[in-house]
Amino acid sequence: MEPGAEEQSPVSPAGGVPDAAVSVGDLEAFARERLTEHTWSYVAGGAADEISLGWNDGAWRELRLAPRVLVDVSHIDTAVRLLGRELPHPILVAPTAAHRQYHPESEPATRRGAAAAESLAVMSTLGSTSVVDLGRAADAPWWYQLYVQSDRDFTTALVESAVDAGAEALVLTVDTPLLGARDRDRRSGGHTVDGMQPPALAGAPPSVVVPPDPRPHERAYNPHLDPSLTWETLEWLVDLSPIPVLPKGVTRPDDAQRCVDAGAAGVIVSNHGARNLDTVMPTAQALPGVVHAIDGAVPVVVDGGIRRGTDVAKALILGADAVLIGRPAVWGLTVAGAEGVQWVIETLWTELAMAMGLLGAPTVDDLSVDLIWPH
Ligand SMILES: Cc1cc2nc3c(=O)[nH]c(=O)nc-3n(C[C@H](O)[C@H](O)[C@H](O)COP(=O)(O)O)c2cc1C
Repeated sequence: MEPGAEEQSPVSPAGGVPDAAVSVGDLEAFARERLTEHTWSYVAGGAADEISLGWNDGAWRELRLAPRVLVDVSHIDTAVRLLGRELPHPILVAPTAAHRQYHPESEPATRRGAAAAESLAVMSTLGSTSVVDLGRAADAPWWYQLYVQSDRDFTTALVESAVDAGAEALVLTVDTPLLGARDRDRRSGGHTVDGMQPPALAGAPPSVVVPPDPRPHERAYNPHLDPSLTWETLEWLVDLSPIPVLPKGVTRPDDAQRCVDAGAAGVIVSNHGARNLDTVMPTAQALPGVVHAIDGAVPVVVDGGIRRGTDVAKALILGADAVLIGRPAVWGLTVAGAEGVQWVIETLWTELAMAMGLLGAPTVDDLSVDLIWPH
């Protein structure tokens, strides 16, 4: 993609959500129909043999529920508090790159859809929209996902622009010092993001490119990633940032504890949608250890394979304060723009409320660990 080409989108404006779509998973096939094979591969794919990709979904599904009976559930309240904000439900939009690939209205449509569903969207550094335009897109809370650039002055300016644009928190991605084995992208023969020019990174000096002889998609990404990120970088960012910082991509209890010690305002349990290190543990299995280590000191958010309201309920039962959805939001955006994103979030929200009612847990505080069988 040439500089400036991000103004164009390869897809025509979408219609509405098809009547045939009932569950979030139903939208996947409709999204696939609208995208080229290589864009589809980019969205759907995981790293290498995609073992963790299957584990992510499967680990939620395998958890068995043990509902309480004879509980008054005539009023169900899905509201949560997150970083001092009351949200009517705990379903947030994960940061994903380059939304113009999916819809001509790109990230602003995502933000509007999230806002309409009373959600909060996390917007990627690698988005197709400038930070200023991200801020203007909707009157609703949003967070900014940061890929720290090796030029720290550039990074400082990027943080300032996100704060000026109204971002309420920084999500520091810590699981991607370099790109993983994106075999599916290579097999699909196209590299949608080759030469990607995210407006937020215009003028950023490239980071050291690893490996030394990069393949096309590595050439597209690695200049935007800093392989030298360390705990000092997190401490530096926490000092620098006037808004809370949440590391994203934590799976180990000891790392989670270290995040808290470094001043993180929350921790995001994630394996990047299984796109980086294959055979990494699924997030549903990583979550309890992180929750135990953090012991309520800061909020815990989790993503990876959340496709049903029951998955959201299970995440909360295991101690998460909120969840992020990655691919499902992209499917919604692709199929129906802002309306599609709204539909995905609201469908999960409705399913969550149903699950809570059927579990005998009318509020999120009632989602205790005994609701998973065996306890
Ligand atoms: C197409 C795609 C692009 C992504 N881009 C980013 C990104 O720019 N920054 C980031 O921190 N995570 C990125 N992620 C990871 C997501 O934020 C999130 O962790 C993951 O998608 C959650 O899993 P799920 O897709 O199964 O919901 C991306 C994921 C996908 C599928």
